[in-house]
Parts: sequence; structure tokens; C-alpha cells
Amino acid sequence: MTKITFAAALLACFFLTSAARAEDPKVPPKHTKAGVTCHDCHREEHPTKGAVADESCMACHGDLPAMAAYTKALPVNPHAVPKNGHPGPWACTECHHQHKAAVVKCLECHPGFKLTPR
Ligand code: HEC
Ligand code: HEC
Ligand code: HEC
Ligand code: HEC
Repeated sequence: MTKITFAAALLACFFLTSAARAEDPKVPPKHTKAGVTCHDCHREEHPTKGAVADESCMACHGDLPAMAAYTKALPVNPHAVPKNGHPGPWACTECHHQHKAAVVKCLECHPGFKLTPR
């Protein structure tokens, strides 16, 4: 390998490594700090589009019933949607957006619910 291609390879390595880490300042800090990579959510090294399957989140956090059990002590459980024709359930990322502010779908119809987006 010539000096110039070696330097190029080093440089490519540097960019590959930084791209693979969730260093996008807009990724929520908890995910950045925990070392969650682009690939962990997007299932590709260099994502260019937004589609992220809930399965990516569930691999680390568990599915909606598991989350409902985890947050069941809250006054209103954002992960438990009433049965019998109630709207929903919603995808994790419909509330927990990652590159823009999180929202709580429930508040669209229940503005009185005390739920904080995270
Ligand atoms: C590779 C594992 C991993 C993946 C994939 C992952 N997370 Fe996380 N998530 C974590 C860890 C670790 C934390 C930090 C836990 C803590 O600090 O208590 C966290 C924190 C969170 C929090 C709490 C943030 C806060 O500010 O309190 C939410 C909400 C969350 N994740 C939702 C998601 C959603 C939605 C997805 C899919 C788009 C996802 N996570 C994908 C590991 C993961
Ligand atoms: C309808 C909106 C909504 C959906 C859909 C939703 N969440 Fe949440 N989630 C919330 C809210 C609101 C909180 C904050 C609850 C609180 O602590 O006040 C939360 C909290 C969390 C936390 C942090 C729990 C903690 O206390 O550390 C994680 C992790 C999480 N959600 C993961 C998920 C995953 C995974 C899915 C999909 C299976 C999901 N959520 C679907 C609204 C939602
Ligand atoms: C914790 C999960 C998670 C991580 C980590 C993550 N993303 Fe995303 N990404 C999402 C979700 C979910 C969307 C869909 C839009 C939204 O909800 O913010 C998205 C959307 C995108 C989009 C589409 C444009 C947009 O903003 O909607 C691009 C491009 C993208 N991500 C790139 C990246 C890159 C590059 C990294 C690593 C630096 C990364 N993402 C890390 C979850 C993640
Ligand atoms: C598109 C509108 C809509 C959304 C979004 C929505 N709901 Fe509802 N919800 C309703 C309607 C309509 C009823 C039945 C009428 C009533 O009791 O207010 C209801 C009733 C309820 C009830 C039983 C009655 C009560 O007020 O205690 C609970 C609990 C509830 N919803 C929780 C949730 C949660 C949690 C979310 C978010 C995950 C959510 N809802 C999102 C429309 C919605």
C-alpha cells in the first residue's frame, strides 16, 4: 500500500467509525451515552431514510406489553391502550421520535393526562 492510499484508508476508518456511532447530536443523549449505534436502530451502517422498525427498539427495551408492565405504576400508563375499539396501539417511534422532539399521542385526545414526552 502506498503512503497516500494508507492515509486515505486511515481517514476512511475514522469516518466509518464516527458514522457508526450515534454521535448525531440530535439522537437523545441517553442513547448516545449508552453507545447505541445508528445500526442498532436503523439496521444499516449509513442510514439515509427514516424507517425504523419497532423490533429494533424492542430488542433492547422489550415489546409494548413488557413496557406496559414496566410503567404500570404511573397515574396513566402510556404503554397500555384500553381494549374494546379504543384507537391504537401506536408504534414506539410515533411517540419516541429520535431526531426530533418526542410527543405523547394520547394527549391529542386526552389533553388532561399527566404524561411527559421522553
Ligand atoms: C442497543 C440498545 C437500544 C436500542 C436499539 C434502543 N434503546 Fe432506548 N435506551 C437504551 C439504553 C441503554 C437507554 C438508557 C437507559 C437509562 O439510562 O436508564 C435507553 C433509553 C431510552 C428511553 C428513555 C430516554 C429518556 O430520556 O429517559 C426511551 C424512551 C427509549 N430508550 C426508547 C427507545 C426507542 C423508541 C427505540 C427505538 C427507536 C430505542 N429506545 C432503541 C438502549 C436502546
Ligand atoms: C403513546 C405514546 C407512547 C408509545 C407508543 C410508546 N411510549 Fe414509551 N413512553 C411514553 C411516555 C409518555 C413515557 C414517559 C413516562 C413517564 O415516565 O412519565 C415513556 C417511557 C418510556 C421509556 C422509559 C421508561 C423509564 O422509566 O425509564 C422507555 C424505555 C420506553 N418508553 C420505551 C418504549 C417502547 C420500546 C415502545 C414501543 C414498544 C414505547 N415506549 C411506546 C410514551 C409512549
Ligand atoms: C435510538 C434509535 C436511533 C438511533 C441510534 C439513530 N436513529 Fe436515525 N432515526 C430513528 C427514528 C425512529 C427515525 C424516524 C424519524 C424520527 O422519529 O425521528 C430516524 C430517522 C432518521 C433519518 C431520516 C431523516 C429524519 O431525521 O427523519 C436519518 C437520515 C437518520 N435517522 C440517520 C441516523 C444516523 C446517521 C444515525 C447515527 C448517527 C442515527 N440515525 C441513529 C432512530 C434512530
Ligand atoms: C384518537 C383519540 C384517542 C387517542 C389518541 C387516545 N385515546 Fe384514549 N380514549 C379515546 C376515546 C374516544 C375514549 C372513550 C371516551 C372516554 O372515556 O373519554 C378513550 C378512553 C380512554 C380511557 C378510559 C377512560 C378514561 O378517560 O380514563 C383510557 C384509560 C384511555 N383512553 C387511555 C389512553 C391512552 C393511554 C392513550 C395513549 C396511548 C390514549 N388513550 C389515546 C380516544 C383516544
